[in-house]
Amino acid sequence: MRSLLITGGAGFIGANFVHHWLAQHPDDRLVVLDALTYAGNLANLEAVRARPALRFVRGDIRDTGLVERLLREARIDTIVHFAAESHVDRSIHGPDAFIETNVQGTHSMLKAARTVWLEERTVPRHRFHHVSTDEVYGSLGPKDPAFTECTPYAPNSPYSASKAASDHLVRAYHHTYGLATTTSNCSNNYGPYHFPEKLIPLAIVNLLHGRELPIYGDGRNVRDWLHVSDHCRGIDRVLERGAPGEVYNIGGGAECQNVTLIETLCALADAAFEQRNDLARQFPDAPAARGEKSASLIRFVKDRPGHDRRYAIDCAKAERELGYRAEVTLEQGLRATFQWYLANEWWWRAVMDGSYQHWIETHYR
Ligand code: NAD
Ligand code: TYD
Repeated sequence: MRSLLITGGAGFIGANFVHHWLAQHPDDRLVVLDALTYAGNLANLEAVRARPALRFVRGDIRDTGLVERLLREARIDTIVHFAAESHVDRSIHGPDAFIETNVQGTHSMLKAARTVWLEERTVPRHRFHHVSTDEVYGSLGPKDPAFTECTPYAPNSPYSASKAASDHLVRAYHHTYGLATTTSNCSNNYGPYHFPEKLIPLAIVNLLHGRELPIYGDGRNVRDWLHVSDHCRGIDRVLERGAPGEVYNIGGGAECQNVTLIETLCALADAAFEQRNDLARQFPDAPAARGEKSASLIRFVKDRPGHDRRYAIDCAKAERELGYRAEVTLEQGLRATFQWYLANEWWWRAVMDGSYQHWIETHYR
């Protein structure tokens, strides 16, 4: 039986991971530590809120004393560290929060783990798993080979630079102090509970409202898309089979240009509105409600400064050493994600206007 501390567990991937872990490891205990920034929301954990194995603590990863207390009190033996500022566009406009949370916050987590696990020796075995990104490797040309774990770091945005710094700290705490760390660098996630500021959920919510679909630059930038359920399985494999000190790339094997991705979502919307009359009543402002093409909303807008052209992940190491393989194809994953947003209008409306947060705070505090 494990006792896990999951930082950022009220965010997109962290919450999906909490759902995954409770389903796959029902005997384990979980503490979620999350500051509930704009990106974190208890609505993401609504479906598991009553589970006795789950405890939620609102707090900041930079509060080293709090993290140490949690590690001791719950006899935590496994940290899965998701908490971060995660949006590239926000990092361009306000990099400070990225340094504070991603660099100082990760260092605070490492310091607490070192004190409690290595000095006080509260548990016989421990693992610090750090969740990072493929963006630390920089940008690829169209014919370049995909990123491996040996690709030199070349981060281009304040976000990816802050994640790169945190990866180096994790590495250093393993080499210098013997902390049993693992790191995973993954590609662009998508799926349920994805805050509608990132490309896929933003496009879905906008097209349902009849709002423009902004595509940066020429729209030919390529991302590798990883369904969040595959990512959660990948992290699970790292925790079960990964070796301390190692880094694993986790990808979806699904490279796609942004413009193609958006056109696919538009086609999914058109087909869904054609099949279901009720959608036109639910979303009367969507072009598809009037029988018009959703793609009419596409707008090419000014490019993001320093916009990385292409990311691609080589997962051979994770396949070989962990038995990891992405199971959800991009077509299946986009269809399922679009359906999830149709079925969970309450969720995206609540997280966008903050009303769920207000409701939970007045009812549960
Ligand atoms: P997210 O922005 O949806 O969630 C981040 C969570 O961290 C939120 O719940 C937020 O409240 C919490 N948080 C932020 N600052 C905090 C602090 N100081 N103390 C405690 N909690 C804090 O992010 P995500 O998309 O779920 O990403 C999770 C992790 O995965 C991040 O480390 C990110 O860098 C990495 N990652 C994400 C993607 C992706 O496509 N989303 C891809 C690669 C790597
Ligand atoms: P994003 O979801 O922000 O993830 P990241 O920048 O971490 O890859 O963006 C994915 C891609 O979509 C990226 O190439 C930027 C582009 N993009 C747009 O074209 N329009 C948008 O409105 C957004 C948010 C992103």
